[in-house]
Amino acid sequence: MPIKYVPFFPDTVEGQAILNNFVRTRRALNYKDNDGVYRTLQRGMPYFELEKVESVGNNPKNILIRGECISACAFLKERGIKIDLVYIDPPFASGADYAKKVFIRRNPKVANAIKKAEEEMEIEDLKSFEEKMYGDIWNKEAYLNWMFENLCAIKSVMSDNASIYVHLDWNIVHYMKVLLDEIFIGYDFSEIVWICGLMGAGPIYPKSHETILFYKKDNSYFKPPARKGYGEYVRNSIQKDDGGWYYTRRMESSGGRNYLKTYISTNSELSKEEALEEASRKRPQPAWSSWIGKEDVAELYNNDFGVGTYAFTEDENVGYTTQKPPTLLNRIINASSDEYRDANKLDRMVIADFFGGSGVAAKVANELKRNFIHVDVGINSIQTTRDLLVAVNAEFDIYEIKDGVNLFRNPTQTMDKLAKLIPGLQRNTKGLSKYWFGKLNDSKLGMIPVYIPDLRDHTQRVFDKPIANQLVNQELGELENVKKVVVYYIDLDDKKEIEQFIKEQNNTEIAVELRDVKQVLSETVIDDIVEYKAKEEKVGYCIEIKKIISDRLLQKIDEYNQKGLAQPSKQDDEQEEENGNGNGENGETGQAEKKKKKFSPITISKSGLELIELVSLDCTNRDGIWKSDKEIKIDKYGYVIEDGQKTKNFWDAKIRCEKKPLRMKVRNIAGDEIIIEKVKLQ
Ligand SMILES: C[S@@+](CC[C@H](N)C(=O)[O-])C[C@H]1O[C@@H](n2cnc3c(N)ncnc32)[C@H](O)[C@@H]1O
Repeated sequence: MPIKYVPFFPDTVEGQAILNNFVRTRRALNYKDNDGVYRTLQRGMPYFELEKVESVGNNPKNILIRGECISACAFLKERGIKIDLVYIDPPFASGADYAKKVFIRRNPKVANAIKKAEEEMEIEDLKSFEEKMYGDIWNKEAYLNWMFENLCAIKSVMSDNASIYVHLDWNIVHYMKVLLDEIFIGYDFSEIVWICGLMGAGPIYPKSHETILFYKKDNSYFKPPARKGYGEYVRNSIQKDDGGWYYTRRMESSGGRNYLKTYISTNSELSKEEALEEASRKRPQPAWSSWIGKEDVAELYNNDFGVGTYAFTEDENVGYTTQKPPTLLNRIINASSDEYRDANKLDRMVIADFFGGSGVAAKVANELKRNFIHVDVGINSIQTTRDLLVAVNAEFDIYEIKDGVNLFRNPTQTMDKLAKLIPGLQRNTKGLSKYWFGKLNDSKLGMIPVYIPDLRDHTQRVFDKPIANQLVNQELGELENVKKVVVYYIDLDDKKEIEQFIKEQNNTEIAVELRDVKQVLSETVIDDIVEYKAKEEKVGYCIEIKKIISDRLLQKIDEYNQKGLAQPSKQDDEQEEENGNGNGENGETGQAEKKKKKFSPITISKSGLELIELVSLDCTNRDGIWKSDKEIKIDKYGYVIEDGQKTKNFWDAKIRCEKKPLRMKVRNIAGDEIIIEKVKLQ
């Protein structure tokens, strides 16, 4: 259970105008039929214990938090931390699962790998497989309910003059506008169109942009970049009227159309050039392009539109699927925040991204000398951001929200894992509604339907009376020939009270067994095993990694290989073509298939060293907060990044440090970390 619940707003939610304001939003939130959102708002944000897991440098005002947005907001509110600018790029309800490419590194101990390592390998030649990072498959209503809570939580930690940018796309932006208008009532609104490539196929206009919804207060900091300026036609036609106001386009007729005067400045004191400059600044560009240097959107639409999406340099690309380019964040942070809050320059402005992903907002905020807060549920996001910030010598603390849910990397992978961890559990059972996660078969009792709360949906977290009510008064009644159900819960309001409630309300003969899902989750993580040799040298210490055993990774690689081998091989394709089965027009598909490479399975050496991504040594603390005094990271090409600085050296399986290493952390390529508590010297 959370330590306590923190109110979203200073006043009780009931007294607020939210939810009741717009009948339509209320309906979108399913408020009348299912008061889940309203209940959560009344209860408050769940505030859990937070553990500081790492300190990099010394700036406690820069924070990375691994956990849910809503709980991170509870923490910030309790600490009295106020945010000056929020950028969020939440899941878009895009209907896709996002995966990360995991690259197998070069093994420093395998001779031919070392030889190969001397040549720069092409990215396609690198061995890799995919790991799910987060799922973005929602029904719209569930998504809106979830976002409503998150946005209320975010608003509760925004300062009085803060502004917010919400990055979305065509899948959900129109619904979200209604929701945001309600939450940010009284704010000024504008919509930024971020043009990022032609997407989608078929006989319909392609999608060409994502949308950033922007809300600010009258007193919010706002200095957007000036437009590049007016074009030649306007510049040449600018005139002053009798009152000294500048206008362009006189009343004239051309091609059957009338043009009216367009005033660009009412300040007669300005020169013509100054008036043009002022007008550009007053009306900043609302359509941005992801093509660096291609600000002229009209030109971009006509000439440069490819199917590419976000523009990065190779250095900027950290391989996080939904990563946004730093240029975008640079523009936003510069437009809507200053370095300091106050004229005395005591307090820096705080920029927060509650769905931080690759950490681009944190990185740019740091570059621009603002403080930053980065929140994400996925371990991969926290690691990617941490490494990115270490590389630019940023100083920050990392926290983990201890909500009792021992996630396996991220909620999506944990849900997949759960299905395998409950012995005998079968998924996708015919005849059961979607409410049930799966079923168990018992020789005496027959089918036992199993309910598991969705870890990706915060509203399912606390098993309280309204949720129990749905179970007993709706779902149980629809089951036929069932004697028992098993209901897993994450948190319970009050176990005795809930059991009593179920007993009283249950009009069926079906027995309900409650089980704590956290116990199952605690079994999800089986640590990697690392073998090493550590010794003192003439100067300093050296640790050589001898072996890593990672059952989790080997299992995953095995699955990848099985899947690859089960796919039709090139020979099969050729045979099929000879048989006249090439189904592409003019044999196109046959040609394309011919070029397809034969699947070659990933093999891992006995030492498994190619599964290591990072080794870090703590020479300061024996336990508690991690302090990385020396670290090496191996990039996907096998080059060593030493304390955040790129080198052109390949890893030799060793790490050296000046001070005596007390603890060692080893991270595998999928992001699982283990800490070896006492480094033993030989
Ligand atoms: C679209 S991505 C953000 C990409 C980011 N803007 C970037 O440039 O890399 C959305 C992120 O939200 C995270 N996420 C999903 N649910 C969350 C939650 N309840 N709280 C915090 N983060 C969450 C996902 O792990 C994912 O990294």
